[in-house]
Amino acid sequence: MSQPINTGILPAKLLDEANGLVSQLSKEQLLWLGGYLSGVGLNTSTTNGLSQQGAVSDMEAASASNATQVLKVLVGSHSGNGKIIAKIINEQAQANHQRVEVLNMAEYKPKQIKKEENVLFIVSTHGEGEPPAEAEELYRFLGTKRVGDLSQLNYAIIALGDSSYQYFCQTGIDFHDRLKTHGANAIAEPYLLDVDFKQQLPTVVPELLKGVFKEGSTKQSQASTETTLLSDSNGLFEAEVIDKVKLNGRGSEKETYHLELDLEGSGFEYQPGDSLEVYAVNNAHLVEQVISKIGLQANEEVTHQGETVSLNELLLHHKEITVVTRPVITKLSSFVTEPDLNRLLDNKDELDRFLDGSDLLDLVSEYTFNITAQELGDTLRTLPPRAYSIASSQADVGDEVHLTVGAVRYQKNERQHEGVCSTYLIDRLNVGDKVAVAIKSNDGFRLPEDKKDIILIGAGTGVAPFRSFVQERAERDSTGRTWLFFGDQHFETDFLYQSEWLKHRQKNELTKIDVAFSRDQEEKIYVQHRLLQKADEVYDWLSSGAHIYVCGDRQKMAKDVLQAFITIISQKESLSAEEAEKRLRALRKSGRYQEDVY
Ligand SMILES: Cc1cc2nc3c(=O)[nH]c(=O)nc-3n(C[C@H](O)[C@H](O)[C@H](O)COP(=O)(O)OP(=O)(O)OC[C@H]3O[C@@H](n4cnc5c(N)ncnc54)[C@H](O)[C@@H]3O)c2cc1C
Ligand SMILES: Cc1cc2nc3c(=O)[nH]c(=O)nc-3n(C[C@H](O)[C@H](O)[C@H](O)COP(=O)(O)O)c2cc1C
Repeated sequence: MSQPINTGILPAKLLDEANGLVSQLSKEQLLWLGGYLSGVGLNTSTTNGLSQQGAVSDMEAASASNATQVLKVLVGSHSGNGKIIAKIINEQAQANHQRVEVLNMAEYKPKQIKKEENVLFIVSTHGEGEPPAEAEELYRFLGTKRVGDLSQLNYAIIALGDSSYQYFCQTGIDFHDRLKTHGANAIAEPYLLDVDFKQQLPTVVPELLKGVFKEGSTKQSQASTETTLLSDSNGLFEAEVIDKVKLNGRGSEKETYHLELDLEGSGFEYQPGDSLEVYAVNNAHLVEQVISKIGLQANEEVTHQGETVSLNELLLHHKEITVVTRPVITKLSSFVTEPDLNRLLDNKDELDRFLDGSDLLDLVSEYTFNITAQELGDTLRTLPPRAYSIASSQADVGDEVHLTVGAVRYQKNERQHEGVCSTYLIDRLNVGDKVAVAIKSNDGFRLPEDKKDIILIGAGTGVAPFRSFVQERAERDSTGRTWLFFGDQHFETDFLYQSEWLKHRQKNELTKIDVAFSRDQEEKIYVQHRLLQKADEVYDWLSSGAHIYVCGDRQKMAKDVLQAFITIISQKESLSAEEAEKRLRALRKSGRYQEDVY
């Protein structure tokens, strides 16, 4: 064993005695002693109101049990929320002298699970009820018979999701089912966390750590998790809108805007691939109609997070009214007098049709409610921020951030419906106004080394992050080649950022650009068709190590593009579709196939 360095803190005699003791102890005894000593140190240096004797003996008990027990935290995240939670748990556990080891699922060997004793799985759901790329391998492994018996494993699950999706927290639920099938022991039912997960953590984290480290005391408190949460976030910044330009030409069926916001004074730093979270304000007319339909008063006072606000203020700024979710309808059903809302809840097809695009005004127009302003406020979901891919490189634009925003407007129930955030940015914000924003970093969508080639595939607003990528690589004088595939409806009106691409092309900052305008000819042509047409060259780039990036529509485009790559690989390498899919999974795992789809 190596000798401790004498920093001069211990006199030589005491240091000798300490070394003598340490040399006689086993590894387990050393771990216990470490916990015990830090407990003593913590309690003698703080004045927390506990008698020193009591505090030390509490800590002693905690250290004795916790020192040998390690909680492994396996995180599978796409947009970073899971990582925020893992960080908070790690900090809380450290403060309690509990031992936690955080690992990304992508870097974890699935077979290792057979040797684990205590694991917390933090996993989100993406796609349509699918695991994020980082979790894919472990998720698949747990679904096979190869896993065998896991009765040695105690586990807990934090499942992240969004209850407006049909398969809420499905991946976390699947992990739970698969682990149970193999005989693992759940410490608690999975925590299914919605978009307001930060508000739930002050309760969830202490409860979870207590469940895992049963014996001894846990000193973490709700208040300390709240403090961590506040200091953890990048914080919000009120950014001024400095420019807003419509990108589509006259006659287009699309409504896409380029927005520039001023971040000066925010201290925000972002990288290509990150998104900007925008905190929207609801449409005042929609709020007014909802309140009046229910028969409430706009100026009624309600309590929101300990403060008194008017119902109008609550619905404008804090509650989601453009989207209704299953859990919200379920909670609201007890306040409906007629007709019976449970009939809708019991009919899955009808409910799915209703949920697809209905807003709160649709619900309160069809059903009669007997509900107070406070009850309404307590039942509705927190209005979550919306993410927008950052369309600029800070190396190029400095203290600005640029966005490419498509308006969400559609007809339903003979009424025009509007998405809250896209129309807030496009209709209700003017140059000079301020908007609350935060940076959402995304390590799952990152540029490779400068010398690597990249293939960028984006349709509509999906091109936004690629503007940032190309700007960044131009600033860095990257030597790698860049090939952009862009798709939209019409060449004349919808070629977003056309002049910028041409300039980059002239300077060779963009090596190639291929476009697919779906409605300029009889048959529909999309980006995946262009990929297939250029299969030879695409495959050459891929073989020489190119990284692929896909951004935009998740429901169709992302799937079709993935399929196009499977086809290209299977044809060029004479592989079955299954084998080609496996190759693609490997590319994904190594970060060479990255998606940011929505
Ligand atoms: C990582 C990420 C990056 C993103 N980047 C961008 C970006 O760069 N640019 C961009 O514009 N958006 C982007 N988005 C999408 C963006 O976050 C919002 O989801 C989008 O702007 C809609 O939000 P909203 O508040 O306007 O609509 P909401 O108030 O959320 O309303 C949307 C609702 O309308 C429904 N709906 C929409 N169209 C129809 C229809 N035709 N019929 C029936 N129902 C319909 C939807 O089902 C949904 O329930 C991104 C999303 C993510 C997750
Ligand atoms: C494109 C996309 C698809 C999603 N699909 C689902 C889904 O099917 N079910 C669900 O519960 N949540 C879904 N979500 C919500 C995420 O799970 C949620 O935002 C979560 O907090 C993300 O955690 P992460 O940042 O750790 O990945 C989806 C989010 C996005 C952006």
